[in-house]
Amino acid sequence: MSTNQFGKQGWTPERLGNLSGKTYLITGANAGTGFEAAKILLSKGAEVVMLNRNETKSNKAIADIKAQLGADAKVSLIKTDLAELSSVRHAAAEVNKSVAKIDALICNAAVAQIAKQTFTPDGFESQLGINHYGHFLLVNLLFDKIEQSNGKIVMVVSEGYKMGLKTIQFEDMNFDKNYNPMNTYCHSKLAQMIFGYELQNRIKAANKNIEVYVCHPGASRTSLIRETASRRDRILFSIFALLPMVQSAEKGAYPEVMCATEDNLNQAAYFGPTGTLNWSGPVGECDMESFVKDKAIMEKLWTVSEEQTGEKFQV
Ligand SMILES: NC(=O)c1ccc[n+]([C@@H]2O[C@H](COP(=O)([O-])OP(=O)(O)OC[C@H]3O[C@@H](n4cnc5c(N)ncnc54)[C@H](OP(=O)(O)O)[C@@H]3O)[C@@H](O)[C@H]2O)c1
Repeated sequence: MSTNQFGKQGWTPERLGNLSGKTYLITGANAGTGFEAAKILLSKGAEVVMLNRNETKSNKAIADIKAQLGADAKVSLIKTDLAELSSVRHAAAEVNKSVAKIDALICNAAVAQIAKQTFTPDGFESQLGINHYGHFLLVNLLFDKIEQSNGKIVMVVSEGYKMGLKTIQFEDMNFDKNYNPMNTYCHSKLAQMIFGYELQNRIKAANKNIEVYVCHPGASRTSLIRETASRRDRILFSIFALLPMVQSAEKGAYPEVMCATEDNLNQAAYFGPTGTLNWSGPVGECDMESFVKDKAIMEKLWTVSEEQTGEKFQV
């Protein structure tokens, strides 16, 4: 691993200057790391548009933020359910109409460890459908606006990318034959990661002006493991959350905020906490397994994702 470019303590929000005039879009910003990222950016004067699925939870999150940061905090909601391609299309149209510019789109939302194989309304295994296909279509539909804004795209992934199948299961993307909550979550996060790096390749080839970053939040105390996880996993993850190496949701937000705001980061890198097992510790560049950048898999996933979301990507 290289020396941390931000020194021994790694990247922290102390590096942030005044962000007035900047606009950040965050998926899944009513809870966990997305909520904390929103607060950090808003506290520096930025505007944040939350792309969340649940209006009640989002209104509460916005009220909590305004109670902490003041009623003039520039935070709003555009309802977006990443599980439904029609909702993503609707939300993207609303963003393109009502948001003047996008300094960064942070693809943060996810579901994890879903106990039994379930499907999105479009027929995708739900973790792949929400975490990957939903974001793939969203990025596609906002791409022109992000480019016009000289903006960035941030993919929030997981160290789980190397704990599952370590490849994309093209012959059975829905895991009809071998569904397993952990492997299937890891598969969806690997897909997001591959998408991020392939998007970089295509942007470079097309000589476009958009930066793409891939990062992970380490192990952070959030609400990621829900009632949709098995009882065994809920117990395991609640014990796991007590470990001293598991960090706060706020610290888990640092890598995505860094990627959204920092200039001169190495796009080819993979960012996150760099302590033991990359669970917590100074935020910087992490080692990454080489199978992520297998060119044949990158290209095939791109084609499959275009087909499944029904939208060609113009890059
Ligand atoms: N926590 C960790 O240790 C850890 C480790 C590795 C990677 N990650 C990654 O970190 C990111 C943030 O997760 P978190 O830990 O902060 O979990 P979290 O507290 O559960 O937050 C996830 C957010 O995603 C939203 N979401 C879920 N399904 C959605 C959908 N269909 N459409 C729109 N939004 C949806 C949730 O909204 P609702 O409240 O409406 O469900 C919530 O706002 C995820 O990408 C996750 O994979 C987390």
